[in-house]
Amino acid sequence: MTTLVPEELLGLTGLAVHFTGRRNWRGNRPPPVRAVDGVTFSVGKQETLGLVGESGCGKSTLGNAVLRLVHPTAGQIRFDGRDVTRLDGEELRDLRRDVQMIFQDPYSALNPKIRVGESIGEPLLAHGIAQGKALDDQVSELLGLVGLPPERASRYPHEFSGGQRQRLVIARALALKPRLIVCDEPVSALDVSIRSQILNLLMEFQQKLGLSYLFISHDLSVVRHISHRVAVMYLGRVVELAPRDNLFQEPLHPYTEALISAIPLPDPVAQRQRKRIILKGELPKPTAPPPGCPFHTRCPIAQPMCREKVPPLEEKRPGHWAACHLRS
Ligand SMILES: Nc1ncnc2c1ncn2[C@@H]1O[C@H](COP(=O)(O)OP(=O)(O)OP(=O)(O)O)[C@@H](O)[C@H]1O
Ligand SMILES: [Mg+2]
Repeated sequence: MTTLVPEELLGLTGLAVHFTGRRNWRGNRPPPVRAVDGVTFSVGKQETLGLVGESGCGKSTLGNAVLRLVHPTAGQIRFDGRDVTRLDGEELRDLRRDVQMIFQDPYSALNPKIRVGESIGEPLLAHGIAQGKALDDQVSELLGLVGLPPERASRYPHEFSGGQRQRLVIARALALKPRLIVCDEPVSALDVSIRSQILNLLMEFQQKLGLSYLFISHDLSVVRHISHRVAVMYLGRVVELAPRDNLFQEPLHPYTEALISAIPLPDPVAQRQRKRIILKGELPKPTAPPPGCPFHTRCPIAQPMCREKVPPLEEKRPGHWAACHLRS
């Protein structure tokens, strides 16, 4: 089968991150939290891969593993064809130039006591790329790039609005000319009215600077706006992965169907007529994922075999992968 994947920039194979707790007073360890449990996918050059799923399914842990802020328990991370799973020292520093992160909360991402120009220039200074006048020039250029007047470099974070602060954070992330940015809920803390401005800015930079994004969000409408392909996570695993339109028009996994059915529709008539799939039960604990298909305890179409066998993530249509025994 053909795969509709652009040339790989970031590649994950069987990536797992398990958190082991401390021993209790009896000397027993609690079962590990299987936050990420065998994830395989790639992000192409100049591609945006959206990563969605409920709270606690392992999205941020996966992003942190890509940035090597947490150690993978198993599996491999490749960047531009190189195995970066166990890099350290100088090599890890080099990787950190190429891979940047934007978090949800622009308030805590900027030091309130430091002028914003200094915050934006800090990575350039730390990596020995610019200082003095050259540094000031680059900071001005970065501010201009994100649509802020360069003379505001001497202001403090509290003098900016939420949307402007996220622009400042983006400027800092762009300072080192990264090739991949992991965006972890970058617009979730912003007013709805300014979300699309920030998303459009990110899309503009993708075109201009040839960037790739791993774009994490629990909000499907945001992911739909910005992604080329979308991966759906459930209990630490990818259960579906497809080009954006295929995923939204023809979801194959019952979990994806349920997520899509919960997106509010702009047309009130259509909204009244559509069927919302309500999932029964609670999200199982990642310390004790159910046997067989991890989704079977909440799946509206589960059969006895789903309790026994883990469904592999299979390419059911060209470029459209799903992990479900019952969908072909
Ligand atoms: N440092 C840690 N130690 C132990 N468990 C952790 C740690 N970090 C995350 N977890 C657990 O791993 C699981 C996945 O968490 P994670 O933050 O990656 O989820 P998420 O999909 O980003 O959720 P949200 O949408 O709420 O941000 C959760 O059960 C969480 O409690
Ligand atoms: Mg998170």
